[in-house]
Amino acid sequence: MEFKKMVTTLGQFIIERQADYPYSKGELSRLLRDIGIAAKIVNREVNKAGLADILGEAGETNIQGESVKKLDTFANDQFISALSTGGECCAIASEENEEFIPIDNLVSQNAKYVVCMDPLDGSSNIDVNVSIGTIFSIYRRKSKAVGPGTIEDFLQKGTEQVAAGYIIYGSSTMLVYTTGKGVNGFTLDPSIGEFCLSHPDMKAPNMGEIYSINQGNFVHFPPGVKEYIKYCQDLDKDTNRPYTLRYIGSLVADFHRNLIKGGIYIYPPTYKSPNGKLRLLYECNPLAFIAEQAGSKATDGFRRILEIEPTDIHQRVPLFIGSTEMVEKAEDYMAKQPELQS
Ligand code: AHG
Ligand code: MN
Ligand code: MN
Repeated sequence: MEFKKMVTTLGQFIIERQADYPYSKGELSRLLRDIGIAAKIVNREVNKAGLADILGEAGETNIQGESVKKLDTFANDQFISALSTGGECCAIASEENEEFIPIDNLVSQNAKYVVCMDPLDGSSNIDVNVSIGTIFSIYRRKSKAVGPGTIEDFLQKGTEQVAAGYIIYGSSTMLVYTTGKGVNGFTLDPSIGEFCLSHPDMKAPNMGEIYSINQGNFVHFPPGVKEYIKYCQDLDKDTNRPYTLRYIGSLVADFHRNLIKGGIYIYPPTYKSPNGKLRLLYECNPLAFIAEQAGSKATDGFRRILEIEPTDIHQRVPLFIGSTEMVEKAEDYMAKQPELQS
C-alpha cells in the first residue's frame, strides 16, 4: 500500500531544508523553530483580542487577578522569552525596546545569531479586528564568538541577513520566511496547531494594479511621490490604469497582499519626517530580503534598501517596495524631482 504525504509542517520543512546548508549544525533551524512556536502563542492571544470585556482591558487586572498586558507588550515578551531561552540567539533588538537586549545566560554562551524584530506590526489595528503581524530578521554575529552580542552585530547591512520572515495574523494565520533560497509560506492549521506549507516557492508578479500609501498625507509628500500617485490615478487602457488603492495600515498585511497579487507599497519621506516612519532593522530590511527573494524590489526611492549602512538600531528609512516594474516607475519619478533624497 502506498502512503501519500498529507502536509509538510514548518518543523519538517526546516529539517528538510537544513541539507541546503552543509556546514550548519542546525542552530538556524532551531532558531526558526523557536520563532514558529512563539508565533503560535502570540496568535492565541491575538485571537482573544476582542474579549477584553471578559478578560480585562490592557492595563487592568483580569478576573484571574493577573495584570493584562497590551498585545504589543505581550508579543514582545513572548518572542524575547523564546529567543533568550532557546540557546541560539546572543542578543535581540526590538522596536519595543530602547536598547538592544544582550543575552547573558549559560545556554546562549555559544549562540551565533542576533535577531531584530517588530513584535507587533500594525498595532493601531488591534482593537478593530484588522490584520496585524510580526516581522523578524536574523544575522550571524560579528562580535567575538562567545557571550552576549554587541552593537556591531546589529549595525550590519540588510544584505548580511541569513533569514527573515513575517507572521500575519489575518483571516488565517501565516508564517512566510526566507533563508536566501526562495520564499515559502505556511498557514496555521488550528485543528492540529501546526504551520503547514501552503505557498511553496512564492514569486511576486513583476507588475500589479494596486498601490498602497497613506494618501491622506498627500500634502506632505515630496513632488516625486505626488507625481507618481497622479500617474497611478491616470486613465490608460494599455497599463490598466487607474490602479486600485488599498491601504490597511499594517505593513505586513499590505506587503503580503501585494506580494501575492502584485502591487507597490510606499511609505515616503515627508517634510516633517524626512526618513519616513518605518524602521530599517525591524521592518524594511526583512521585508526587502523577502521581496528580492520573491523577485520583487525594495528601495528608499533611490537606493537599494539592503545596501543601506545602519548607524542606529532604531533608524528610519523611506520605503518603496513591491512589483519590480512599479517600484522602478516610482523611482523614475523620484529621480526627476529628487527633493528629500536622504
Ligand atoms: P507599528 O504598529 O509596528 O508601529 O507599525 C505601524 C506602521 C506600519 O505597519 C503601517 O504600514 C504604518 O505604520 C501606518 O502608518 P500611517 O498611519 O502613518 O499610515
Ligand atoms: Mn511596524
Ligand atoms: Mn510594532
